[in-house]
Amino acid sequence: MNSIEAKVFWFTGLSGAGKTTIATNIGSTFKENYNYTFNLLDGDILRVGLCGDLGFSVEDRKENIRRVAEVAKLFLNRNISSLCTFISPTNEIRDLAKAIIGEKNFVEIYINTPLTICENRDTKGLYKKVRAGEIKNFTGIDAVYESPISPDYILNCYDNTVQDSLDEINSFIALKLKLPVNGDQ
Ligand code: ADX
Repeated sequence: MNSIEAKVFWFTGLSGAGKTTIATNIGSTFKENYNYTFNLLDGDILRVGLCGDLGFSVEDRKENIRRVAEVAKLFLNRNISSLCTFISPTNEIRDLAKAIIGEKNFVEIYINTPLTICENRDTKGLYKKVRAGEIKNFTGIDAVYESPISPDYILNCYDNTVQDSLDEINSFIALKLKLPVNGDQ
């Protein structure tokens, strides 16, 4: 079912906002409902291999995003959609990704989870380390995070259930790919 026009769905938000969880769910839902396969590019995974030489300075984050966007573009050229989950903290950095991928196929999704919620969840235990002074330049604490100015979609993850958020974003993505929203073929 990959005859439809591919897109790059770019998820931005703080560490612990839920980007990876959401993208993973989208991947399995679309496989199940439409037999549609996404390429998944995730910050924590890419930073082990392809971007393993990079840190979290402004310049390194920019290079991280540049490489990832180039990879997503290669898949796009083969008509394969990607779900990209990167903090990608500034408008400049996200504009770089958009310029590489092409405005027409770049779909920016802001996972809007407030810092207090991300920190309370602390799924990877990183915020605790930041507060203990063990990690510097952490996004949202002592490194900048700029909310997107005009994203294609804002998923508010503070006043609804996880299932509601997933249903909402799955419908949006289906619409963008021109797939039937309820999963009917
Ligand atoms: S980005 O800023 O270059 O887009 P990316 O999404 O690849 O970041 O990686 C973010 C992940 O790296 C976080 O979810 C977290 O697990 C980890 N991480 C480690 N150090 C930092 C830091 N200083 N700031 C943000 N995330 C960090």
